[in-house]
Amino acid sequence: MKIPFSPPYIDEAVINEVVDSLKSGWITSGPKVKALEEEIKNFSGAKSVLCVNSWTSGAIMMLRWLGVKEGDEVIVPAYTYSATALAVLHAGAKPVMVDSGKDFNISVDAIRQAITPRTKAIIPVDIAGFPCDYDRIMSLVQEQSIRDLFQPTSPAQKQLGRILVLNDAAHSLGARYSTKMRTGCETDIAIFSLHAVKNVTTAEGGAICFNLPAPFDNEALYAEMRMMSLNCQTKDAFSKSKAGGWRYDIVGMGMKINMADVNAAIGLAQIREYPELLKERKRIFNSYSDAFSKCDWAIVPPSVQGEKESSYHIYALRVKNCTEEQRDAMIDEIAKSEVAVNVHFIPMPMLSFFREQGYDIKDYPQAYDNYKCEISLPIYPQLDDEKVDFIIQTVIKAHDTIF
Ligand SMILES: Cc1ncc(COP(=O)(O)O)c(C=O)c1O
Repeated sequence: MKIPFSPPYIDEAVINEVVDSLKSGWITSGPKVKALEEEIKNFSGAKSVLCVNSWTSGAIMMLRWLGVKEGDEVIVPAYTYSATALAVLHAGAKPVMVDSGKDFNISVDAIRQAITPRTKAIIPVDIAGFPCDYDRIMSLVQEQSIRDLFQPTSPAQKQLGRILVLNDAAHSLGARYSTKMRTGCETDIAIFSLHAVKNVTTAEGGAICFNLPAPFDNEALYAEMRMMSLNCQTKDAFSKSKAGGWRYDIVGMGMKINMADVNAAIGLAQIREYPELLKERKRIFNSYSDAFSKCDWAIVPPSVQGEKESSYHIYALRVKNCTEEQRDAMIDEIAKSEVAVNVHFIPMPMLSFFREQGYDIKDYPQAYDNYKCEISLPIYPQLDDEKVDFIIQTVIKAHDTIF
């Protein structure tokens, strides 16, 4: 049985929505993007939401808005996809990497130790869709002694008066932070990725959620950032294309990172079905956890803890007492049955670019421990119980062959 790792969910509703965009006579940013922004806003509870063409470009734009510059530091986990740190570098600051906990997420104690007067932002990452401890992170940045350390150097930093928390929610659209709150509204800024492998996709895309405290005006910030995402042009192409609406101005050094309507159409159809699709992901996740919790060699990933609940984006299985070589051998064994699995993530200090910049995996022992024995299993609504069972049996057989 050939099982791909993460095919997109494309049904008739998605196809019809895309065809509708193609036939409408308007395929780039317009009504479908606006409708998707409204859907994500209602779904997540964020104060306002702007869609752009990727998580990465959205994060670069928001760090530029914050006014980070050379010498400034942004705290990120070592254990994440490289975009988290690359966005910081593109915005002109230094990523300060810290270790994670056993739940894969950034360690709040490690954040505290890494804060200096140069720290301008923290980017916690909801690894696999399981939310970080935002109560602790938000209280940390509001502590008086941490506020006293903060040295604002831009208008946005002065207005905030403390370190900004930008949630890398690339994986966690649909996760619950509490019974009342979904991810997207619990930090100053949260960004979802809508990339092809994500729970809800626009092929490529990102959604920036604005939740800044008063006196920030999140609607005004939406309008400012929307213009910023369109080259800082005072009129978008939709309004400019109307009869007589040709004149515009360029008022800053913007970026060109807007989302197109034809892309938004995919996500629009998917997010309307997402509550049902999320249940399917949960069904698969729980089937895996039921089976692997009976294996004394397996560590099942976190999904529910108190009021927190994952978005079930990645099933990150870990194997006890397992070296990197044994894990790799297990993956080779699984591949013989044509089941595609993955590893999330190779910690950034192990990647050439970051290694050459002086980051050393020895400084992140828990990140390495999480990585060396991790295997991500396929998880998507199209997997029926027969396929899930086949995957479970394949993984158990591979384990028994290697160990
Ligand atoms: C944790 C994390 N952050 C950021 C990104 C970047 O998202 P995008 O591809 O939309 O730029 C990804 C992509 O997989 C990711 O896994």
